[in-house]
This record gives sequence, structure tokens and C-alpha cells, in this order.
Amino acid sequence: MSKISEQQLAENLQASNNVMASAPIGIFDSGIGGLSVYRHLAQQLPAERYVYYADTLHVPYGNRDSREIETLTLNAVEWLYQQGCKLIVIACNSASAHALSLARVRYPQIPIVGLVPALKPAVLASRSRHVAVLATKATLEGALLNQVITDIAAPNNTTVSKYFDPQLVPWVEAGMPSNAQTASHLRQRLLHLAAEGIDYLVLGCTHYPFFKEFLLQEIEQQQLAITVVDSGQAIAARVQSLLIDNKMLALLDADNESYPLRFYASKYDDKLAQLVERLLGQKVDIHYLT
Ligand code: DGL
Repeated sequence: MSKISEQQLAENLQASNNVMASAPIGIFDSGIGGLSVYRHLAQQLPAERYVYYADTLHVPYGNRDSREIETLTLNAVEWLYQQGCKLIVIACNSASAHALSLARVRYPQIPIVGLVPALKPAVLASRSRHVAVLATKATLEGALLNQVITDIAAPNNTTVSKYFDPQLVPWVEAGMPSNAQTASHLRQRLLHLAAEGIDYLVLGCTHYPFFKEFLLQEIEQQQLAITVVDSGQAIAARVQSLLIDNKMLALLDADNESYPLRFYASKYDDKLAQLVERLLGQKVDIHYLT
């Protein structure tokens, strides 16, 4: 993580009096997956205010066609923009794959950060020259990932195997019950990856870091030589550097208090608050936009 220089700190201190520094960062996902990115952001940038929009009415996005994902994503970005966000993170690989470029064209006033599976670091670290990306159909077919394959994997003679399981996002949204068939499919998938000689597994969907611990336990128990990577940390670093460059970084008050997450969902669900609390380890008030 890059260190903030004294000059950058002084400039941002001055800017912290301005309205932009105290404006919130908007985070968007089809559901609760973007919370895996929020965890990194909140840790890296604890003085910021955050507004989260979960389009739970339309989750999952991963099986939808490109135009539908584009429309839903632009609606979400517009909503966050109307909340006065100074920067927006499209914390969804599927939405980024099909709407990031257009969102940036429509909202040139604010930085918009999108997600692409962390394939580049995996390719550069792979020894077996065979890596796997586990993501939604929409992400695997999208231009962003395929560009990384062309630009990074191909010149490094690295094979990229793509996998998707449409049950994974609904499984995470349901709180990852351990008795579900999805869990045993994941175990089998790991054995299959190891047998193929794959040494890096890229989690290309923001819902998936919530079962990273489960994967790591399986990898250890089965003694598999697979490293699991995701994009959360890199996104927090990117947001930090954009805030510094744009002199919009919020700084902690004397009392070091963080602001509570403002969480909005597009569909009422009586189990949502409990699930969010479990995933974040803190209570969050959910507001419904129905
Ligand atoms: N978290 C979204 C992603 O990163 C999930 C996609 C979905 O809703 O299917 O792709």
C-alpha cells in the first residue's frame, strides 16, 4: 500500500475543509458481494463515509445479458451520484465488465472504479503457467477479462481456464449453508483444478471472498498447491490514490470515530440485516428502496 507523503497530507488537510472531502464514497453491487470490497475500503480508509447500494431485486446479474446489466448498472450509478458521492466503486465484476466504460463516459465529473478479476498478479506469479478464473458467465464473457488474457496471459505463455457455477452467488446471498450441494461442488472443483496443474485460483466475483476461508481450509486439508487471490486489497489502494490525486481524502477527526455504513437495498428481505451483520461483524441499518 502506498504511503501518503507529507505534502499530499497537507494538501488533503486543506481540502478536507471542502465539500468533496466529506462527501461519501458510493459502492454498488447486485447484492451483498460488494461488502467484501467495502471491508478493505473501511480498513484502509476509515475516515470516509460510505453509501452502499445492493440491487437485491435483480441479483444475480451474472446470467443476464449485456444490455440488461448495462441498464441496471447505470441506474445504480445514477442513484449513487444523486446521493452526492465523490467517487463510485462498481464493486461487481459482472457490472464492470458490461457497463464500466459507459458509466465513465456518462459521469466524467467523478472517478468511477470498476472491478476486473485479479488475473494479472496471478499470471505473473504462476509457476505452472496454468491459472483458473472462477467468475460469473457475464464476467468470463466480458471484454475486460479477455483483454487481460490477451495482454498479460498470452505473452506470458500462461493458460487461463475459466469456470462458472450459477449457484455460487445465490449460495452466498443465502448465507452459505454448509450442507448445500454448492459446498461439495466447490470441494470437487478444487481437486479438479489441482489435477489440471493449476497453481493460482482467481476469485473473479466480489461474492466469492466470503467463502475464501472455506477454500483455504479445503486446500490445507487436501494439501493442494493452490493460491487463492482476489481484487479487494488492490481496489482499496486504487481508491486511496485517486482520492489523494483529486484532493478528496477525508481525514479522521480528533475523536477517531468512523461513520456507520449507509446500506440501501432494492428489495425487502427480513434476513438481510442478519446476513450483513454476520459478514461484516457489525450491526448495519438497512434502508429499503421499494
Ligand atoms: N458480485 C457480483 C460480481 O462480482 C455478482 C454477480 C451476480 O450478481 O451474479 O460479479
